[in-house]
Amino acid sequence: MQKTERHFFAPGRVNLIGDHTDYNGGLVFPAALNMGTYLTVSPSEDDCYHFSSENDPAAFTLRKEELTLRHHSWVDYPLGVVKEFTDRGFPVSGLQFHYRGDLPIGAALSSSASIEMATAVALNALNGSPFTMLELVKMAQHAENDFVRMNCGIMDQFASGFGKKNCAIALDCNTLAYEHVPLEMQGLKFVIANTNKKRELVDSAYNQRRSECQQALEILQQHTSVENLCQLTVSQFDGLSEYLTGGVLKRARHAVRENGHVREAIIALKRGDMTRFGQLMNASHASLRDDYEVTCPELDFLAEQAQQFPGVLGSRMTGAGFGGCTVTLIAENQVDAFVENVGKAYEQQFNIRADFYVAEIGNGAGEMMNYEC
Ligand code: GLA
Repeated sequence: MQKTERHFFAPGRVNLIGDHTDYNGGLVFPAALNMGTYLTVSPSEDDCYHFSSENDPAAFTLRKEELTLRHHSWVDYPLGVVKEFTDRGFPVSGLQFHYRGDLPIGAALSSSASIEMATAVALNALNGSPFTMLELVKMAQHAENDFVRMNCGIMDQFASGFGKKNCAIALDCNTLAYEHVPLEMQGLKFVIANTNKKRELVDSAYNQRRSECQQALEILQQHTSVENLCQLTVSQFDGLSEYLTGGVLKRARHAVRENGHVREAIIALKRGDMTRFGQLMNASHASLRDDYEVTCPELDFLAEQAQQFPGVLGSRMTGAGFGGCTVTLIAENQVDAFVENVGKAYEQQFNIRADFYVAEIGNGAGEMMNYEC
């Protein structure tokens, strides 16, 4: 028998290393957070879709025929997913969708992917689970590409779907082969620092970077046979770089080098070489700043302050960039001093307060069986 109210959760993620590699067929190394989106679904009496959120006063009541309309609001994320189900022959009956999130919104910790994935696992459960988790991840990504028109890669939805407690996910975005790598932290923590900088025009800047990578690939394909930039090793790329110039050269160079950083970081973590892991995080930040040009003064300040702080092994921006968060690998006994000192310095510099979170790594999206109000 159908329960009247059902409860679901999908996490956000922190990407430990490997940004702007997913849509270049490369490696990424994210981990699901224990923060994310909670969704309560119940039948509606009027056959409409009702969307509400505790994080946003804008609520929506929509008739089924209105499903193709974008609202340029948070509701586009779940609507895009409802449309994915409908397009695949699973029309969604009238429902109330009520959301509550504990992730900072628009802070590069995948709040949007967590809304999409919470909606996807909910609709899947209500339909008797016709889709695998990988299919749901692809549907959520497709909803964001096609409906929201953000041309994102697969990392965020994948991390939200396939998260595992205390593990990072080594994902090859070309083959979608993945492995859970235990985070054996040896007295260290990952600390997330949110710049709280308002991010504007992220989608268009992101889509522009993506198309510059595509341009680079098309040029290089005239000289070598590759399907994506991350199939090239750093030395193969260096041998071909004379064919590229300007921004296009820099974007492609980042993708290839960053892919190398991730490959090495996964090995370092498996070996317990956290010092090397930290160095690779620093190299990743430099490449995102200098070649991919997706950092900003706030992110650079937080990463540089962190990199100089006692007990820190490495620090980098995480996610798409242009604002959002850094992630720092730091000795647990230095965390309090770090939060206090770097927090103070940041506020003095920019007149904005940063927020800090010690990352707790949790499981992927699913139904909450023991939900208590
Ligand atoms: C955003 C996108 C991801 C990925 C990152 C950058 O989070 O949604 O697909 O491209 O940026 O690594």
